[in-house]
Amino acid sequence: MQNKNNPFYGKIYRGPKFFCDRKEETKLLTNYITNGVNITLFAKRRLGKTGLLHHLFYQQRNNTNMVCIYVDVLATHNLVEFTNYMATAVYNAFPPQKTLGKKIMELFQRFRPTISFDELTGNPSLNLTITTPDQKNNTIGNILNFLDNQNIKIVFAIDEFQQILEYPEKNTEAILRTHIQQLKNTSFIFCGSNQKMMHEIFNSAKRPFFASCTSVSLEHIPATEYKKFIKKHFNDVNRVITDECLNFICDWTQLHTFYTQYFCYTLFALNKENNGIEEAKTAAQTILKLNENTFYQYKNLLTDTQWNFLVAVGKETQVHQPTAKKFITTHQLGTPSSINRSLEALLTKEMLFHNTGVETPYYEVYDKYLMRWMQLNY
Ligand SMILES: Nc1ncnc2c1ncn2[C@@H]1O[C@H](COP(=O)(O)OP(=O)(O)OP(=O)(O)O)[C@@H](O)[C@H]1O
Ligand SMILES: [Mg+2]
Repeated sequence: MQNKNNPFYGKIYRGPKFFCDRKEETKLLTNYITNGVNITLFAKRRLGKTGLLHHLFYQQRNNTNMVCIYVDVLATHNLVEFTNYMATAVYNAFPPQKTLGKKIMELFQRFRPTISFDELTGNPSLNLTITTPDQKNNTIGNILNFLDNQNIKIVFAIDEFQQILEYPEKNTEAILRTHIQQLKNTSFIFCGSNQKMMHEIFNSAKRPFFASCTSVSLEHIPATEYKKFIKKHFNDVNRVITDECLNFICDWTQLHTFYTQYFCYTLFALNKENNGIEEAKTAAQTILKLNENTFYQYKNLLTDTQWNFLVAVGKETQVHQPTAKKFITTHQLGTPSSINRSLEALLTKEMLFHNTGVETPYYEVYDKYLMRWMQLNY
């Protein structure tokens, strides 16, 4: 059960107090958006891309010269839905009482919109009438152009952007790129959880978005910053947390933001006044127990060969050369060609991550809790 009084509650961005570090990254991104630079934000899964976008835009909330609009397009299936999501975000960003809001409403009227309200949140969403091929290709461009001519700086953060690769309209990238290219006052931050697909869109020389954006890579939050942040939140409510406990957290979760946050969430929820190594171990056990079903589901979704290989990587924590003789014999893994096949499959399924941003690249199990569970049980 998620408890919103827990300072490590992570489902939504709750302001700077609950957000750890990212000072340099925020400074860099602020500089880019102020200067109208288009950006792609890359990082491994669950490291904090979406959180950082919210943090960045939160800093601009009172900036009257710049409007920041966040759109998550994960649930879209085609270009029309993409256009409607963008239109809805624009509609919600400009209150209709204000002059610009009125003008935007007039623009949307041209597309004979229907407005519906989300049953749970009550948030409005716009459905424009987009039927002809010409409307399909150009409505997003019309909206962007209109906004671009209003003498105000606009920044769109489009999250889960890789979703456009799933659209039936295979020319989506070309359409968007063409429209975006012409804008003067509008810039974009593209971000997505599937790094492979995001790289395909932005780093493949044959595709429309190639070399169109400045790429920013997000790394792990440094241990010193994370420890300070965790300690402060425990101390704020008069609870003690030892250095040993903090070291355990950083090591056990490998400072992978989602796993570190959730660990702290669990530890905090134990409600202990003194938090040392024993409490940390209890939190770890609680997490592994809670996730055991998921781990077995993973196992059932993989072939035995893939699972055994994943376990081997998990037990080693990091593997530089998965076809090295020593690694194969230690874990009885079969032939290099079967290892390569497993490797490929596990990378595609995002069960393994290949860290190439370091001097000696290595493979690691993506899910840090699964890794710890494998280390204990195999
Ligand atoms: N700097 C931070 N301080 C505290 N919590 C954070 C921070 N960054 C991210 N989080 C939390 O960590 C979790 C994962 O972050 P987030 O969803 O932003 O990652 P992501 O990189 O966008 O993941 P995905 O690749 O799945 O889209 C969330 O619960 C988020 O609230
Ligand atoms: Mg995200």
